[in-house]
Amino acid sequence: APAVGLIGWRGMVGSVLIQRMLDEGDFAHINPVFFSTSNAGGPAPEYPGVDPEQKTLQDAYDVDTLAKLPIIVTAQGGDYTKAVYPKLREAGWDGLWIDAASTLRMADSSIIVLDPINRDVIDAGLAAGVKEFIGGNCTVSCMLMGLGGLFKQDLVEWGTAMTYQAASGGGAKHMRELLTQFGGLRDVVAEELNDPAAAILDIDRKVLAAQREGLDASQFGVPLAGSLIPWIDADLGNGVAKEEWKAGVETNKILGRGQDLAPGVQSAGEKIPFDSLCVRIGALRSHSQALTLKLREDIPVAEIEQIVAAGTEWAKVVPNEKQPTMDQLTPVAATGGLEIPVGRIRKLEMGPEYISAFTVGDQLLWGAAEPLRRMLMIAIG
Ligand code: HSE
Repeated sequence: APAVGLIGWRGMVGSVLIQRMLDEGDFAHINPVFFSTSNAGGPAPEYPGVDPEQKTLQDAYDVDTLAKLPIIVTAQGGDYTKAVYPKLREAGWDGLWIDAASTLRMADSSIIVLDPINRDVIDAGLAAGVKEFIGGNCTVSCMLMGLGGLFKQDLVEWGTAMTYQAASGGGAKHMRELLTQFGGLRDVVAEELNDPAAAILDIDRKVLAAQREGLDASQFGVPLAGSLIPWIDADLGNGVAKEEWKAGVETNKILGRGQDLAPGVQSAGEKIPFDSLCVRIGALRSHSQALTLKLREDIPVAEIEQIVAAGTEWAKVVPNEKQPTMDQLTPVAATGGLEIPVGRIRKLEMGPEYISAFTVGDQLLWGAAEPLRRMLMIAIG
């Protein structure tokens, strides 16, 4: 079995990745080498049925040790990639780099991996000697896992995604901060909530005062509990949030459309204009998005639903009715599962080619860990 370096396995994305690898029996096909950025020499983690050759953690900054491996998988984050990856290549390393971080995603030398959607792009890249296989932005990956059928059949003329993104997209500390804020808000009005006669506007006033002055918001910068934040990631200085820019460029790169493609990957056609407005909300770990798509033709809704359902094995059409929507199309329903529910599919007033859709996906599964472990299995054949 090939030796595979694993970096960042202890963090949130890494832990989900390891759990998925254990669930799917991936460790039977690899010889894992566990690295650490902070605890080299400490004991390697013990997982049932996993018996690494090295019982101690290797130093994740030791380029010589890394360079002996044919494959490295990292969920350590963008700063690590920036610090180590160029040195590895300078040292002449020729292996495959599989990475969750965004650092290399839009590099000409890389492919964004989402194999249920772009296995052809991945295979073309592997055949052409591409060495960088990078997980996509969580919102983009979840959107394509749900609506990929329409894109694969080239039915989308343009699209927008209005997102409702969970705290987990910021990281583990952000999830804790959101929950602490929820608790803090409840605490300031605990007495009033126990008294059915307490005036709701007094409760509202106290909660607002706590939101404005009393809550720790050091991670998100402003309170999220009981509020929302209509900006995600960096300010690109042109009115666009970086998360919104990613939606367009990554969607097209995954689909192999436009010019921003790795060597050896033939363009599958013109770029599809795809834009979004990204909003952080108080969900914990599943990202939701409301889409408006302009299709190239007028297709009956039933047919659209069939195309969506057949797009990937994991897309699941939710009937556009109130109860199934409430039961199946929420972050609470989607979290922890690989299924991507897609609902609210209907024609819009603007004309018969315009449709709406709403989709939800676990930000840590298809949004982060799952494409990486699948790429690893593809790479080892
Ligand atoms: N940028 C995403 C978010 C997370 O903040 O929700 C990972 O792609």
